[in-house]
Amino acid sequence: MLSVRDLNITFSSQANIVHAVKGISYELEEGQTLGIVGESGSGKTVSGLALMGLLPPTASVTGEILFQEEDILQAEKKRLQKLRGSEIALIFQNPLAALNPVFTVANQMIETICLHHNVTKIEARERAIALLDRVKITEPHKRIDDYPHQFSLGMCQRIMIAMTLSMKPKLLIADEPTASLDVTTQKEILELMDELKEEYRMSMIFISHDLGVVLERCDKVLVMYLGNIVEQGHPKEIFLNPKDDYTKRLIDAIPKINA
Ligand SMILES: Nc1ncnc2c1ncn2[C@@H]1O[C@H](COP(=O)(O)OP(=O)(O)OP(=O)(O)O)[C@@H](O)[C@H]1O
Ligand SMILES: [Mg+2]
Repeated sequence: MLSVRDLNITFSSQANIVHAVKGISYELEEGQTLGIVGESGSGKTVSGLALMGLLPPTASVTGEILFQEEDILQAEKKRLQKLRGSEIALIFQNPLAALNPVFTVANQMIETICLHHNVTKIEARERAIALLDRVKITEPHKRIDDYPHQFSLGMCQRIMIAMTLSMKPKLLIADEPTASLDVTTQKEILELMDELKEEYRMSMIFISHDLGVVLERCDKVLVMYLGNIVEQGHPKEIFLNPKDDYTKRLIDAIPKINA
């Protein structure tokens, strides 16, 4: 469903040029989960943003991103907006940055649902409540009228996930979706995402620093280092038999409980 060919991303300013992604290629099959791991600054986020056409104007991008046989890099602005609303969705690290603090959850969810579906406000509210219930917000019919600051960070991430699901995307890009959460909440959110992925039959790109998290849920993993893919393949094979020195170091950095 997704085929990335020789993707290059550079940022130029008057002061310097940053070559953030250096000719990466990979494929993602329908229904599969692709993990992207690598240290900070290796190009994980920008390569995800490129799939959504969300890079800033200072970025120049070359190569090919075929999503369901359509080249995203050639798509018009309007088409990209449509794709972002209905086919490809993104969940960020910090849910508070994505929720608007001055509107209730109901306002924001109803607006999103009405934008993407031909429903009345009353129907949209019902849908929103059902989605909040699905992501395990208790008493959703009451909580829906609260503001984002009235929820914990983990709950805000659930709300973001509910909003994303309202669009029924075919591809979900999750960029360190649990990085801002405590360990227990991280586990809950990851479990929820695993359930929803099955239920909604989404393909997923899962960006993470955490090789362990990727190992558990990905069909394939890309190891990125300084804008390159240094290794890609089945997570277990890469984990047990890393070919690249950088991958070896990444694995060595994981604390071993029963070393
Ligand atoms: N808007 C931008 N302007 C200039 N350079 C940028 C911009 N966004 C990202 N970069 C640069 O591109 C490179 C890749 O950044 P990216 O955010 O993709 O890293 P990352 O792998 O997601 O890191 P992290 O794990 O910290 O999130 C970095 O060198 C970064 O400084
Ligand atoms: Mg990032």
